Amino acid sequence: MTVRNRVEIMHGVNLDQLHRRDPERYGGESLEALEMRIAEEGHELGLETRFFQTNHEGDFVEHLHRLEGMADGIILNPGAWTHYSWAIRDALELTGLPAVEVHLSDVDQREEWRRHSVLDGLTVGRVTGKGPAGYKDALTLLERKLSDVTPGREPAR
Ligand code: DQA
Repeated sequence: MTVRNRVEIMHGVNLDQLHRRDPERYGGESLEALEMRIAEEGHELGLETRFFQTNHEGDFVEHLHRLEGMADGIILNPGAWTHYSWAIRDALELTGLPAVEVHLSDVDQREEWRRHSVLDGLTVGRVTGKGPAGYKDALTLLERKLSDVTPGREPAR
């Protein structure tokens, strides 16, 4: 049986500045520390994690283009792009990979414009408002999807 355990963790615009953003909303941790925590949690679940962050929308899109054959699943927090980048939605759809959307803050309880996600209906899950702990939920969800090999069913996408 082929092992499907490669998870790409993608962070978008302004998330490299996590340590400088409102700790009440975002947890006060640096992106580096967050990534280390995610790598450990992934390892405990038998997942191999790889990380990517950019502040450039085109680079985010092109990274998604390059994932074919390189990853089995995606966890993504595109930051503010979540709310308006149809280009990122199209690129995520192109990958054909199961993806989980994560937000550190509770986007549904903030400004109106944050309540909309371009990824709606495309992802296998969405975790919001749980701070850094939300990534563990996302990893767990994705691990279940990736190991879902019920006979007679297509692998989860
Ligand atoms: C965010 C929420 C977005 O609305 C915001 O623009 C971010 C971070 C989060 O993780 O809570 O940059 O994605």
